[in-house]
Amino acid sequence: MTKSHNYFTSSIGKKQIMALTGFGLVGFTMAHLLGNLLIFLGADAFNMYAYTLTSNPLIYVAEAGLVAMFVLHLVLAVFLKIENSSARPQAYYVKKKTGRGETFASVTMPYTGLVILVFIVLHLMNFKYGTHYTTMIDGLEVRDIFRTVVEYFANPLYVAWYVFAMIALGIHTSHGFQSMFQSWGVNHPKYTPTIHFVSLAYGLTVASGFSILAIYCHLLN
Ligand code: HEM
Repeated sequence: MTKSHNYFTSSIGKKQIMALTGFGLVGFTMAHLLGNLLIFLGADAFNMYAYTLTSNPLIYVAEAGLVAMFVLHLVLAVFLKIENSSARPQAYYVKKKTGRGETFASVTMPYTGLVILVFIVLHLMNFKYGTHYTTMIDGLEVRDIFRTVVEYFANPLYVAWYVFAMIALGIHTSHGFQSMFQSWGVNHPKYTPTIHFVSLAYGLTVASGFSILAIYCHLLN
């Protein structure tokens, strides 16, 4: 067995790759939130932004990277969960009794992860592959994705689903963010409070930022 094979099959190797892919996804989520803030500037600003992104050929490379990170993150999570359960059949019982380092966020990671998975599939179906309107901006025909988004959020049930999914996303990424440092061995007590603060701030920002956008789009109807 080679060294690299050992690394990828070891528990710490899987955790470190999960942390790395999670970091990439956390970065994408923040970039996506910042881009979506253009919704506040109106249809033309948002449509032009989406057009600029999607008409760049590099988008295919970025999308392939995103899918690879997402799939790797998910598959490793499932492997680690199976390994943990078979290594310690009574893990939950023992943990609950001792309560070592357990938090609501850490215990619910598989469930919040599942909500995110369902969310992404529906999200892509409704927006990326959703109704394709077009509009003219300065003589250029572009997709009117703003209209697709605003029409979607006309339904308050969809807004509620988004807020729920964004809370799950905030909890999941917030815990993931801090465990990422543990997986990479950066867990000196000196840095713990800062890491906890940044993780919490990140989770709150994505949960509230995306939720406010969904509510704002609802109000535009
Ligand atoms: C209010 C919340 C959100 C809005 C309004 C929104 C809007 C959009 C729109 C309009 C697109 C299609 C872009 C295009 O094809 O032109 C898109 C794509 C996408 N969104 Fe969101 N989004 C939101 C939240 C999220 C969240 C929370 C995530 C995941 C953490 C996410 C992940 C994605 C992904 C992976 C794509 C596909 C990107 C690509 O193929 O290049 N979105 N989003």
